[in-house]
Amino acid sequence: MIEGDWIPTEKPLFMVRVCINKRLNTDRLPSCGGRGSRGLADALERLILAERIPASITRGPCMNNCLHGPNLKVQGADYFNLEGDLSDARIEEIMIAIRAEAVRRRNLRTAPVNDDGAVEP
Ligand code: FES
Repeated sequence: MIEGDWIPTEKPLFMVRVCINKRLNTDRLPSCGGRGSRGLADALERLILAERIPASITRGPCMNNCLHGPNLKVQGADYFNLEGDLSDARIEEIMIAIRAEAVRRRNLRTAPVNDDGAVEP
């Protein structure tokens, strides 16, 4: 692949919502945007694209848990309070949750359903 080429993944099956709120800080409280969540969202997006995981990153407003941010939610799965820790280990922890959710959703898509439309065990 030529560097710079972009090959779209399959249609996203779920989203990862990252709070990128940045306070004006008149109240001296921390915010996710002030603790690096915008760079975190970009890094997760690059990893998702590189691994061709059918997920999308949604950059969103405050999740009302500012003291423990950056905060993010894997749709249908884990909620993360990173407490200012953007280490590679925490990012890998998030990626493990994203990969697991992708597998779960792919399996749901291919699981047999009964006459009522419910997934059979
Ligand atoms: S600034 Fe992210 S939860 Fe409030």
